Amino acid sequence: MQDNQPPAANPWNALVDVFGQPWDSDSVPEYAADNIVIAWPSLRAAMTRLLPAGQALNVLDFGCGGGLWCRQLHALGHRVTGYEPAQDLVESARRNAPPPVRITDAPAAMQAGAPYDLITAVMVFPFIADLEAQLRQLAGLLRPQGCLLFAAFNPPFVRDNAGDDQPFQLAPGADHGRMALRPEVSIPCYLRSAEQHRALCAPLGLREVYHDTPPFTREFLERYAFPLRTRHGEYLIQGFGFDAQV
Ligand SMILES: C[S@@+](CC[C@H](N)C(=O)[O-])C[C@H]1O[C@@H](n2cnc3c(N)ncnc32)[C@H](O)[C@@H]1O
Repeated sequence: MQDNQPPAANPWNALVDVFGQPWDSDSVPEYAADNIVIAWPSLRAAMTRLLPAGQALNVLDFGCGGGLWCRQLHALGHRVTGYEPAQDLVESARRNAPPPVRITDAPAAMQAGAPYDLITAVMVFPFIADLEAQLRQLAGLLRPQGCLLFAAFNPPFVRDNAGDDQPFQLAPGADHGRMALRPEVSIPCYLRSAEQHRALCAPLGLREVYHDTPPFTREFLERYAFPLRTRHGEYLIQGFGFDAQV
């Protein structure tokens, strides 16, 4: 009977060797260099522009993976909750971002930490099919003055790296497909433009307050052996705040 089927394994557990590597902040792990060197400066710039300076904010990092960004948020002085549904990554995140950072796989614990001044989601929304429902839940956890800040795939980057023997498989013209960092772990992924994110956020009263597509830098390309095509920036970074506040 269908009810007796075991729950499908969370495919992100199979990528714990990628996203759950131990990290000390003096080094930049190769696998996360694009995130840390290209995306994080833009996320930090958004925070500086949008949030009150010098205050310890209550922050949720949704889909925190191995906890690297949680640790960075804590180092910036914030009170941090990381929510991560993949159990193996939860364990990595607890090692990389020890208390007082709170790492949880329990939606109830994530909700109990609300209201949040800031919710971040770094490369999580591209893997969520029903983003409308997910955004509604997260908007309900934000303070009225709060900010939602996320990094998603920049669609031209994915299209440029799609095809046979490439990490992304997309049907021609399709806005969803699969990402296979390794052939045996193929995860559905969804390409959404900045305009699509704006359209999903508008009914929730959330208006765009930050927008960036940071390019690959010469320094990054000289330093790291990045295996994909880099003529388009990898990340689409957007911040949203409630209408009344913007
Ligand atoms: C590419 S990894 C990024 C991890 C981390 N944010 C980082 O920047 O390294 C994608 C993450 O999204 C998480 N994720 C996927 N679907 C999710 C969902 N429905 N709710 C919360 N997290 C989800 C995965 O478990 C995984 O940790």
